[in-house]
Amino acid sequence: MKHLLSAGDLSREQAITILDTATQLAAATAQGVGKLPPLRGRTVVNLFYEDSTRTRISFEAAAKRLSADVINFSAKGSSVSKGESLKDTALTLEAMGADAVVIRHDASGAPHRLANSGWISGGVVNAGDGTHEHPTQALLDAYTLRNHLKNNQGDLDGVKVAIVGDVLHSRVARSNVLLLRTLGAQVRLVAPPTLLPIGVNTWGAEVSYNLDESITDVDAVMMLRVQRERMNAAFFPTAHEYSFRYGLNANRMKTMQDHAIVMHPGPMNRGMEISADVADSARSVIVEQVANGVSVRMAVLYLLLGGTEGI
Ligand code: NCD
Repeated sequence: MKHLLSAGDLSREQAITILDTATQLAAATAQGVGKLPPLRGRTVVNLFYEDSTRTRISFEAAAKRLSADVINFSAKGSSVSKGESLKDTALTLEAMGADAVVIRHDASGAPHRLANSGWISGGVVNAGDGTHEHPTQALLDAYTLRNHLKNNQGDLDGVKVAIVGDVLHSRVARSNVLLLRTLGAQVRLVAPPTLLPIGVNTWGAEVSYNLDESITDVDAVMMLRVQRERMNAAFFPTAHEYSFRYGLNANRMKTMQDHAIVMHPGPMNRGMEISADVADSARSVIVEQVANGVSVRMAVLYLLLGGTEGI
């Protein structure tokens, strides 16, 4: 595989190879031997047209831990603000010898355009495109689930996950449904009808409008951020009403199974979709998700650029 554009492009075997490689790379990093050598002399460009904290830093850390040279490009402060097109930016990166381009863009499909355009010869990794997909987030979520529920081995057969909140605007939800199903998990989407996309019934996930009924039998509850920046209309009456119906608070968390974990891709709206005490509770694996993100992105870069076995 040359690019990672959609979580749906991965077979079960490929996804497990990425998770297993991430496990090995995490172990090697934990031994504290410093940087690992496989991407020495390779250049990874982080091309970010949209704001990001975790994803950008984590791709940078991942590339550096594998000894790649990293160029961080953010649209703000670049010639993009002078109207430069994706094509001209891509040609510039190509001229600089980018071996891989990690792209985040507010337009759904931008990574596919870049990968299929012929403008660049390196691999393209989708780091989040519009409301469409975010495959490395799905991989780090699968890694976290596997670590807690499957002894960090194999697939996610039999695992039940509830994904709750703004599914309509969430590339995290879309990529997670695709990957979780590939790995054998059962997914339930929980949201008000206004925050579910048209055609959600074809996603192969159960759909529920009721949070209280949806969290008692699952192994993990994944909360989604309410994406106000993508809302051009009123999707729910008030913030208070939203958290009353769809927010995960301590009382609701008590009804979950003892072993069940709480996840959130970040950034959180504390007090909206998740209360502060839940976010900071012992069941919350939110900080761990961030750490796992580095290992998973190391695995993706390694397998796309440097690995002998590839994916
Ligand atoms: C997500 C994103 O940007 O899609 N965050 C992330 O990558 N950690 C989710 C979000 O913005 O709500």
